[in-house]
Amino acid sequence: MIVDSLVRRKTDIDLGVKSLSPIANIFERLQSWEQTGGSPIGFVQLDIATEYERLRDLLAKERPDSIVHCAEQRAAPYSMKNSTTKRYTVHNNINGTHNLLCAIVETGLDIHVVHFGTMGVYGYGGLQRGSIPEGYLEVEIPDGDNGTSRKQILYPADPGSVYHMTKSLDQLLFYFYNKNDRVRVTDLHQGIVWGTNTVQTKRHPKLINRFDYDGDYGTVLNRFLMQSAIGYPLTVHGTGGQTRAFIHITDSVRCVQLALENPPNNQEKVNIFNQMTEVHKIRDLATKVAALTGAEISYLPNPRNEAAENELQVENQHLLNLGLKPTTLSEGLMTELVDVAKRFAYRCDPTRVPCTSAWLDKGRGGEEEVMSATSMIPLGALTAEL
Ligand SMILES: NC(=O)c1ccc[n+]([C@@H]2O[C@H](COP(=O)([O-])OP(=O)(O)OC[C@H]3O[C@@H](n4cnc5c(N)ncnc54)[C@H](O)[C@@H]3O)[C@@H](O)[C@H]2O)c1
Repeated sequence: MIVDSLVRRKTDIDLGVKSLSPIANIFERLQSWEQTGGSPIGFVQLDIATEYERLRDLLAKERPDSIVHCAEQRAAPYSMKNSTTKRYTVHNNINGTHNLLCAIVETGLDIHVVHFGTMGVYGYGGLQRGSIPEGYLEVEIPDGDNGTSRKQILYPADPGSVYHMTKSLDQLLFYFYNKNDRVRVTDLHQGIVWGTNTVQTKRHPKLINRFDYDGDYGTVLNRFLMQSAIGYPLTVHGTGGQTRAFIHITDSVRCVQLALENPPNNQEKVNIFNQMTEVHKIRDLATKVAALTGAEISYLPNPRNEAAENELQVENQHLLNLGLKPTTLSEGLMTELVDVAKRFAYRCDPTRVPCTSAWLDKGRGGEEEVMSATSMIPLGALTAEL
């Protein structure tokens, strides 16, 4: 059963932008799934952040074994746009997660929650040494008698946006409800997702996933591949020296399956898995895409308040041990994505490609001009494509 408020579709309308791939309405999608022989999937339209009683009653009625919780506002640039989007992101994400945990406790059900978190909770400091462990850190705390005691703590959160801050706060909610009420939780600290099709969505054209390319919701590698498909220079922010963790969408889905099949028991702490398969510097990704497609690269002022360059090493042994076989960056998969982008290039509004959300306003040290929405558009190239 899918529970969704469909707010993501409304956000598209509010922003005046749409997914590059055409997204059928939810009922057509469910029907298409059944036509391919898939088991029927129920749907309930419900806002988990504001409709607590409906959520609780639904759980009591359906008595699920597991819940995959992805119902959050998920774009960092959107979360940094203005005070309205900041407050919405905090309200939606924190209340949604807390309502879910409360409802599980109030109904007395033993439900395994698998949550989509983010690698961004660890932060991307420039001076990282060693690998980022999976969620927890062993520390020694001074005990006041010149000695120390050892403790395992959540890895210190270092969020880089309001969105990432909500995922950091989610971790504490899980920690508390697990400790107090023995709620079973697996928190997947996911890297940046790329790709658009999975084995399941390829079964019917109407099951195609969203392909967000705009400056708010598009993720970096998908954006580069789409930009190259429409002859738009690749938008690298700053020096492109930011190193980030990535995962292909088929692996993301496989990881959820592995998490569901390997739940913690009631005595175990929250399972935290780093759900990523590789790390890349943004400028290296741009260079790879440029070499593959002949696209130009544009270095633009960075709208984010972040380290210009950072190194990143991440442990991901848990999911590998459970059987994940990483799908890493390959020319074949990148070309497949460029082909999808070319197929739907006619739906692209090039004025929506630049990222216009700025982390800091000018008075607080932000860039004079993040990017003008039209200065980047190579009109000649586009007219030919469109
Ligand atoms: N896409 C990525 O690169 C990425 C990376 C790391 C983590 N994640 C996390 O994975 C999850 C899924 O991401 P996605 O890219 O599929 O995002 P998405 O926006 O496509 O999916 C989130 C869904 O949740 C729904 N939703 C939001 N708030 C809700 C509420 N209060 N009640 C009910 N439904 C609500 C939206 O309508 C949407 O359908 C998110 O939690 C996101 O933070 C995504």
